[in-house]
Amino acid sequence: MKKVVVLGHGTVGSGVVELVERNKEYLMDKYQQEFAITGILVRNLEKHLGKGKDHLLTDSFENLLEQKPDIAVEVMGGIQPARTYVKTLLDLGVSVVTANKDLIAEHGLELLQAAQAGGAVLHFEASVGGGIPVIKPFRESLKGNRIRSIIGIMNGTTNFILSKMYDEDLSYGESLRLAQDAGFAEADPTSDVKGYDAARKLAILSSIAFDKAISWQHMGCEGVQDVQPFDVANARAVHCKIKLLAIALRSGHNIHCSVRPALVDKHSFLGHIDGENNAIEIEGDAVGKVMFTGAGAGKLPTASAVYGDLLDVLSEKANGILPLNSDVDYQLIPYYNAPTQWLVRLRVNHIQDTVDLILSSFSDHSLQLHHLNSKDNLFFLVDTEDERQLLQKLAPLQGSSSVEELRHFLIYR
Ligand code: HSE
Repeated sequence: MKKVVVLGHGTVGSGVVELVERNKEYLMDKYQQEFAITGILVRNLEKHLGKGKDHLLTDSFENLLEQKPDIAVEVMGGIQPARTYVKTLLDLGVSVVTANKDLIAEHGLELLQAAQAGGAVLHFEASVGGGIPVIKPFRESLKGNRIRSIIGIMNGTTNFILSKMYDEDLSYGESLRLAQDAGFAEADPTSDVKGYDAARKLAILSSIAFDKAISWQHMGCEGVQDVQPFDVANARAVHCKIKLLAIALRSGHNIHCSVRPALVDKHSFLGHIDGENNAIEIEGDAVGKVMFTGAGAGKLPTASAVYGDLLDVLSEKANGILPLNSDVDYQLIPYYNAPTQWLVRLRVNHIQDTVDLILSSFSDHSLQLHHLNSKDNLFFLVDTEDERQLLQKLAPLQGSSSVEELRHFLIYR
């Protein structure tokens, strides 16, 4: 019998307890093993009483330790006190399974080192993509590849918001309220809507993929809070949808990582990923492109990933795989470093002057100019070698008094 303690009893914590109970017989039949939940740590006892688990609840971490657990599941979220608790457990040799992307993105290396030193393991499949298996494929099935790119929709809340704006013509504010009511958003939705949540998930995946510790704070990160209804209309006019994409691209010794609202062809694979769903496309030099999709958040989907990790602890699989001792020397570059098409959107006060400037700046490119919705909303499509070339061409427009606002969106097809 393995004694399991659960730190946190919110949506995911209660899902883990439910799944452990649901799989009791299966585990015994298949593995002749049993997970016995011996304690659940909560912040506020009162809030959780009367839900059938009163005998397991405690608000004291020391009480949990006294039970001498074999495995701890950390689903409290946030950095503190989760970091202190997880570090203490690992130092004591207790293996930990966590769904906490903030903790892994910020302190994953330190915690994996603690796990190694303590003779424990630390698994974190649920920290990226909720129920979608994506870390384990990196660890196991894709090991024979050099990874070229990771591109995906990694935040359910913002995908839900953008889907509502596209499908139902709702405003950003109305869509956010619906996402909060549905329970996808973090307690403070700032990290969802500003792209930080997706950036943390991308940092975890790209650190694994490129064997280099990549900090989410060093990535370009734009959220969805400034996406306007006319951006959605512009995207629709060119048969695309807006999605918050998390992008990691390697070319030689350069890596580009960013989170940004981008256009995707509505008929493409990513164009069909709507609502709170997530999807991650990985390209390896041997396997080509593989896709992972499904529920990126929610009680049982996330618990499903946690349960898989619990089984890995049981079968004594090796530690999670952040780059512990990597000396690989990549340079993180701020611009998207591959040929692509862009949608450039401008709010202008003088149409003809702006059009003249666009035509002169992009004289060696073929352009598709559009003028939609209102007299001052202009946009065009253009292909460039990379984002740096685009920004150079846009510089005269940025400085022009006839342009009030300018924004560019990558188009991923
Ligand atoms: N707030 C996150 C999301 C939850 O919306 O994707 C899962 O990490």
